[in-house]
Amino acid sequence: MKRVLFVCLGNICRSPMAEAIFNRQVLEKGLEKSFQADSCGTANYHVGDAPDPRTVRTSLKNGTLIRHTGRQFSRLDFEQFDLILPMDISNRSNLRALPGAEKFDEKIMLMRMFDPDQSEMEVPDPYYGTEKDFQHVFEMLDRSIQHLIEVLEKESPAT
Ligand code: 4NP
Repeated sequence: MKRVLFVCLGNICRSPMAEAIFNRQVLEKGLEKSFQADSCGTANYHVGDAPDPRTVRTSLKNGTLIRHTGRQFSRLDFEQFDLILPMDISNRSNLRALPGAEKFDEKIMLMRMFDPDQSEMEVPDPYYGTEKDFQHVFEMLDRSIQHLIEVLEKESPAT
């Protein structure tokens, strides 16, 4: 079982959307015994909150059901996940700044390292944007996660 953690700032927009897309694609491929996902934020503003309504609407419109309660990254997550995927450079810096993080640096990779479209490095924060920005983020995550799952499958083929 490989465990993947998606990380953004608030854990109400980008990372719960990524988690839900990952879960949907894993189910579609029948890989739920091989891969598991969770998401969290580096900030604590939205601990206990449901995802942003625009995240829920955009995901549902694209056939993806979201169920998540906001939580903050904990240092235990470094041990418990195989791959930790911050959405942008600032959240990667937040993770790297935590005490002891250097031991886990090889687990931390930017989400868009897996995007076949390498025009930018970050998944932009849609929080202050419009519904269109949420759709843009959805499409970026959907294709990045498709590629991510292909890479994970090659690394640990289902038995
Ligand atoms: P997220 O978006 O990091 O993609 O969940 C944000 C959500 C909330 C805030 C910032 C970004 N906030 O400042 O409350």
